[in-house]
Parts: sequence; C-alpha cells; structure tokens
Amino acid sequence: MKIVATTTQSRIEPDPAFRQFLDDSQFEYVPRQRRGLYAIQQECQTDAILVWQRPVPVLHIGEDKLFFHPSMAKVRLSAYRRKDQPDPLIEAARVKPGDLILDCTMGLGADSIVLAYFAQGQVTALESSPAIAYTIKWGMRLYDSRMPWLDEAVHRIKVQAIDHLCYLQSLPDKSFDLVYFDPMFRKPLLKSETLSPIRMLGDSLPLSEQAISEAGRVARKRVLLKERAGSPEFSRLGFDQVVGSVHNQVHFGIIDVNSD
Ligand SMILES: C[S@@+](CC[C@H](N)C(=O)[O-])C[C@H]1O[C@@H](n2cnc3c(N)ncnc32)[C@H](O)[C@@H]1O
Repeated sequence: MKIVATTTQSRIEPDPAFRQFLDDSQFEYVPRQRRGLYAIQQECQTDAILVWQRPVPVLHIGEDKLFFHPSMAKVRLSAYRRKDQPDPLIEAARVKPGDLILDCTMGLGADSIVLAYFAQGQVTALESSPAIAYTIKWGMRLYDSRMPWLDEAVHRIKVQAIDHLCYLQSLPDKSFDLVYFDPMFRKPLLKSETLSPIRMLGDSLPLSEQAISEAGRVARKRVLLKERAGSPEFSRLGFDQVVGSVHNQVHFGIIDVNSD
C-alpha cells in the first residue's frame, strides 16, 4: 500500500514532531501546496494520505478516515471507575499491577489502553499494518484528554510496527507475563464492519500455530485469544479453556503457562 504524508492547507512547513513522524514511518512527504487531498491522491497515485493535524494525525483512505481515539477504552474504563463494572478482558487476562503485557494485535489500541490501565505499567503493542501502526502510534503520542488516568494509560503503550511472529521469535523465554491476541475475526460481527478502515487496512491472515507456540514460550503466566463465541479457531490453535458469558458474542481462549 502506498501512503504519503502531508500537512494541513494552512501549514507550509512540517513542524519538528511531523519530521520525527516522517523519520519513524518512512512515509513519503508531499508538500501540500494548497492542493485538495483528491488532487494529491491522483498526482501521487497513492492509496492513502496521512494529514498531519492537531490534535491527532488523520489517515484518509478515499472517503474514510482513521485516527486515534480511545473510544471504547474510555467507555470501558469509565464503567469500571464509576460503577465498578468488571471488564471481561481483564477478568480473562487476570491482570495484576506490575504485569508486563504484550498485545500482539494492536489495531486501534482500545484493549492495549485497558490493559495498560490495569497493569499500571508499560504495554508493548504490535501492529503489522504500517498504515494503522504509525497513525495510532503518533495519535497516542500526541493525545491529551486532560484526564490523567486516561492519558497515563495511553502514554504507557509502546507501539511497534512489526509482524507479531517476527517479534515473538526475537524475544527470550518468559519475557512477558501475558501475551494477548485479538486477530480480525474470520467473519465480522457486524455487516457494517466489513467497510471499516481497520478491515480495509488491517492484516486479516489467520493466526498461525507457530505464533501461538512462540507466545507460549514467551509468556510467564498466560496466552489469551479473543474470538467470536463458538469459533473453531479456539480448538485449531490449542485453546482448550474458553471463557465468556452466553450473553456476549466474544469469548476468550486461555492457555496457562506453567512457570517452573
Ligand atoms: C481486531 S484488530 C485488534 C483490535 C484491538 N484489540 C483493539 O482493541 O483496537 C486486529 C489487528 O491486528 C493486526 N494484526 C493482524 N495480524 C497481525 C500480525 N501478524 N502481527 C501484528 N499485527 C497483526 C491487524 O492489522 C489489526 O489491526
């Protein structure tokens, strides 16, 4: 996928943060020169255009937009903070303060934020789609909600634009407490999701048995898989223990790792 990056119409030169973003992402910089995005797309024959704007950068893919927003994470954490409502991911993950967490499928980062809030420490989040990885990474970096409990969780996430199998293979044994996977469901839960930017840009290959085996080597406590309730992926990938409410369309597969 070809992605170029540009500024807003009003800005002539990239600011220092945008320069760092360009260095990091290696997206090609195209000066805006007062052109519309459609004109840039036609001239550069590009699939997507990242516009460096505040409060967060926005990736334009045709009519759709992708940008960082804590959306569901904020709703879930607010429900916990206000009503003590348990979060199904945290219950399945059995996260404890101080746990080191590896999220192998970051996407928009909602689960990473919830995990970072409860672990009270750094979460390493991996994303193999560069379009998603860099848009969300820099969106998180610039994010400022003025709610310290939320900002601190967001800023504790360390994003890596990399395929999780490559990353797992590079890690020593037992280097994270929890290794978490939330791959694209084989069939989206809602029809509308088929057209969502994450579906268009995300890596939709099925999880590999090799990745799960590496995760079992890297995890000190638990490997966790989120999937549709009743999905054959649980048994294909060796998750014998599956938890989740009958009222929930999403369940969690658990592999407990014996720490000897
Ligand atoms: C369903 S989304 C994850 C949603 C995420 N849990 C959240 O809360 O926003 C799955 C993400 O995993 C990414 N992904 C799929 N395979 C991957 C791989 N091999 N390595 C890293 N990321 C991967 C996809 O590109 C997609 O962004």
